[in-house]
Amino acid sequence: MNTDTITDVNTLKGGPLFGFWYPALPSGKLRPGTLQPLLMLGLPILLCRDRQGKVAAMRDLCPHRGMPLSFGRFDGERVECAFHGWQFDTAGRCRHIPALVGEGTALQTEKIGVTSYPCQEQDHYIWVYLPDGKGAPGTIPEVTKLPILSEPYQFFDLSLTYRCNVDEGVVGLVDPAHGPFVHQSFWWRSKASMHEKTKLYEPIPNGFRMVAHAPSQNSGAYKLLTTFYGGPLTTTIDFVLPNQRYELIQCGSLWISTRLTVTPTTDQECRADYCAAWNCFPWLPFGKFIFRQFTKMFLSQDMIAFERQAIGFRYKPSLMLVGDADMPAKWYYKLKAAHLASVQTGQPLDHPLKERVTLHWKS
Ligand code: FES
Ligand SMILES: [Fe+2]
Repeated sequence: MNTDTITDVNTLKGGPLFGFWYPALPSGKLRPGTLQPLLMLGLPILLCRDRQGKVAAMRDLCPHRGMPLSFGRFDGERVECAFHGWQFDTAGRCRHIPALVGEGTALQTEKIGVTSYPCQEQDHYIWVYLPDGKGAPGTIPEVTKLPILSEPYQFFDLSLTYRCNVDEGVVGLVDPAHGPFVHQSFWWRSKASMHEKTKLYEPIPNGFRMVAHAPSQNSGAYKLLTTFYGGPLTTTIDFVLPNQRYELIQCGSLWISTRLTVTPTTDQECRADYCAAWNCFPWLPFGKFIFRQFTKMFLSQDMIAFERQAIGFRYKPSLMLVGDADMPAKWYYKLKAAHLASVQTGQPLDHPLKERVTLHWKS
């Protein structure tokens, strides 16, 4: 075997990337006047939606004595810590310290604050920007939008927990070779349907794109679409740092747009967030339900694979990336390293893909 095609993965692995927007929660899961604690990149985050419906994110730790603020009360304007009742507005500024009397009341409490994070809603999701060590830059890049090609459209989201570290989780988004083994099913792939594939990739900012192509003939779901709408059908798949995979399927004016992200919650666990928007099959009864169920089945197959891999990881095996099928995984590691280098040096990101590249594999 040509050893040039083998890369030792262990030297490439690292922690999560800070300095990016991450999806935190589907918008519908946070009602006005409520709080939601969650873990993102190992950080305790508290999401809140005020009475006006505006979302905010702060560190879920009281600056007084470290009580998670999520144990406290929220009246739709201020979060009150459950320990000594300090109150914080949704920007994280302390507005009231109940125990202070006399001269103490002159204290400018708003100088005390909880770390707050940029937070916004996009594509039915609440997103939180988690800055790197240098803090949030003056201008934060926009949240990458899910391509929506026309209105009206249908939409659903779902989330699953993967027992894996960030790198294994993200590599799972770009690894084509596990398909026929992990995702065996009558409506998607089988080992028997494996065949040779040639895919063209090109660099895009912070990522790479599998250029628009006719999707795999061995996928039952795509066959169904072609049968109903006649084709030609194309699919474009993008990977974008830190953790996002977009797939856009188009057939004339019809489209299906999906996003799958894998966000680390701890160093051993990630949350996969999937959402899909589409404008085809509007006549199909329970279309959304059926699509959601199939997707859940599909993502659960990955979840089981990660659970099994975690058993192997107890023994700290050395890992490798081999051949063209593992090339997108190599690009991910290289992109990640290039991003970190660019943050360090202040120089533009040295993209690992300089031009279009053709990859060949069997799946
Ligand atoms: S720990 Fe929060 S008020 Fe004391
Ligand atoms: Fe998968």
